[in-house]
Amino acid sequence: MSERSPRQGRDAGVDEILEGRREPGPVARKLPGPVAWFDIRGRSTGHLAFSLNRITGLGLVFYLYLHLLVLSTLLRGEGSWNGFLEIATTPLFLGFDVLLVFGLLVHGLNGTRLALVGSGFVPNRQKALFWSFMIFGAIVLVYTAIHVFGSEG
Ligand code: HEM
Repeated sequence: MSERSPRQGRDAGVDEILEGRREPGPVARKLPGPVAWFDIRGRSTGHLAFSLNRITGLGLVFYLYLHLLVLSTLLRGEGSWNGFLEIATTPLFLGFDVLLVFGLLVHGLNGTRLALVGSGFVPNRQKALFWSFMIFGAIVLVYTAIHVFGSEG
């Protein structure tokens, strides 16, 4: 069946989204389906925060398992651990460390914002709180990057 005709059994919002894609002017919604949350074009700051939170949350789960895998090299003795350390201190892997801190900062600070707004401590100020936390996070990230790369060699 063509994309233009409405299909039975489809989510109610999908036809609306597909219709929106054909409309001229600024893009409001582009990607229907399970990846729609990823498409931040024309969306609000809240949606950007949600997408970032989801990407970093999933990234942190991935890192958790990677971390356990890396730690398991300890079971294979000193040699394999030292081998890992050699790789871990290359500039590329130090860059991954900074990426990890980026994910932790975005997710942790945004999660704290959600907790503050959701529990009623800072109602109606979620946008200002988001940008304040992100600016604070950016400063901490720059500080971290300087120290991580400064420790090289
Ligand atoms: C500073 C610590 C953290 C805070 C304050 C925090 C806070 C939050 C909050 C409030 C949500 C719900 C977001 C929503 O309702 O839209 C969330 C979601 C999530 N968090 Fe965290 N979190 C933290 C650490 C972590 C860590 C360490 C991991 C991974 C190991 C993680 C993985 C996730 C995942 C996968 C989601 C679901 C994302 C989604 O599907 O939208 N979080 N977190």
